[in-house]
Amino acid sequence: MLNRKSLLITGGRIIDPAQGRDGPGSVLVEDGAIEWLGPEGADLPEGDYEVMNVPGMIVCPGFIDLHCHLREPGDEAKETIRTGARAAARGGFTTICCMPNTDPPIDTVTMVKYIRKRAAEEAVIRVLPIGCVTRRRKGNALVAISRLAAAGAVGFSDDGSPVSRNDLMQRALEICRAPGTPVIDHCEDLTLADAGVINEGIIARQFGLRGIPNAAEEKMVARDLELARKTGGRLHLAHISTAGSVGLIRKAKAEGLQVTCEVTPHHLTLKQDEVIHHGAMAKVNPPLRMEKDRVALVLGLVDDVIDCIATDHAPHTAADKDKRIEDAAFGISGFETALGSLMRLVHAGEISLEKVIAKLTIGPAKILGGKFSKLGTLAIGAPADITIFSPHEEWLVESKRFVSKGHNTPLEGALLKGKVIATVYNGNIVYRDNMPGRKPELKILRVNINTDDRTIQN
Ligand code: DOR
Repeated sequence: MLNRKSLLITGGRIIDPAQGRDGPGSVLVEDGAIEWLGPEGADLPEGDYEVMNVPGMIVCPGFIDLHCHLREPGDEAKETIRTGARAAARGGFTTICCMPNTDPPIDTVTMVKYIRKRAAEEAVIRVLPIGCVTRRRKGNALVAISRLAAAGAVGFSDDGSPVSRNDLMQRALEICRAPGTPVIDHCEDLTLADAGVINEGIIARQFGLRGIPNAAEEKMVARDLELARKTGGRLHLAHISTAGSVGLIRKAKAEGLQVTCEVTPHHLTLKQDEVIHHGAMAKVNPPLRMEKDRVALVLGLVDDVIDCIATDHAPHTAADKDKRIEDAAFGISGFETALGSLMRLVHAGEISLEKVIAKLTIGPAKILGGKFSKLGTLAIGAPADITIFSPHEEWLVESKRFVSKGHNTPLEGALLKGKVIATVYNGNIVYRDNMPGRKPELKILRVNINTDDRTIQN
């Protein structure tokens, strides 16, 4: 008998790829954990529940994002831990990992602890810090990796910049081998990227802009794979964007290398010509590429060469984007459009809904590993992190309505089909869609199996 008030989410289609579950059912949350899960019609455990009835909705594990930028400390005009976490919750995310390219960067134990403290004070969801690989992200000397890991850094990255020095990357992989913490590389050979602005190709030539070739990424992917092979370290490749990268990783995985990688919603759904229509709003690093690259990325997800989807949520101020494209900042504010963007692929028949959910849940949870490997599933006993979304509801992207401070999106005015309706973190509803008529109602259900009393009260 459950004595405390609990939350029952019922009437929806439960999809939990970690358990191979897909079908109508209910999930019961108690004390912040999944207490019970059953198919439609199954007898509920006795107790008093708050009930969220969500017919037509998908109920799945809360999304996990391995790659975002929260800009705190140092650039709070772009985003804060508070606003970023709220925006993430609106996007269906319950765990996000923030990159260390802040000011100061997250390169000391003190900074790791500071981010954790701020997250505990300010964030509506779980925020996990990623530490720098090199001090001040300058690429000259390693941070105290083991000490930062012990303080709670869940990965190491100089994201925004690559770890260009081979010896430092090799050493970082060696150190991270034992704890199994991923070294997350932003793969960019800076000599080949040559201060480029958009993808190298016809559009760059037409506009007289410096192009970033696919080889800038692939050269570094190849180097990293070689070092992972040599060291046995845990390599994770961030935001891969080219068909060539997918091919290299496919080959390495076939050899048995323990490498993982991620792809963003924008590289899966958009191409270089977005720059023509949206200018600097479509300027992102790595750049939006060509259709053949986009298709290779989707296929890489479908056949599991790519392990997870990560937003690379990169909020910027209007002033940082409202410049000549050469001078504007790289990045897209991605939390709030991630699901709607990915649903384009599902509706177009390019990928299954189950696969998209797997790549947002169990996929990233496995990469985090350790105590976080219990995330990304609705298994009984797991933390009650749950995302509820409508796969069919259409909505217009209006960046002025973003919860994120970053309104920089190339999707302004786009109609997306697929919308997060509610996000539950640790058993608490941290986001609910407030569209009239869309708000899932909460009622009290009293179940007493002995007397077969099953009543719903308002
Ligand atoms: O577009 C990007 N923006 N790519 C990165 O690697 C960094 C990020 C940022 O911090 O704005």
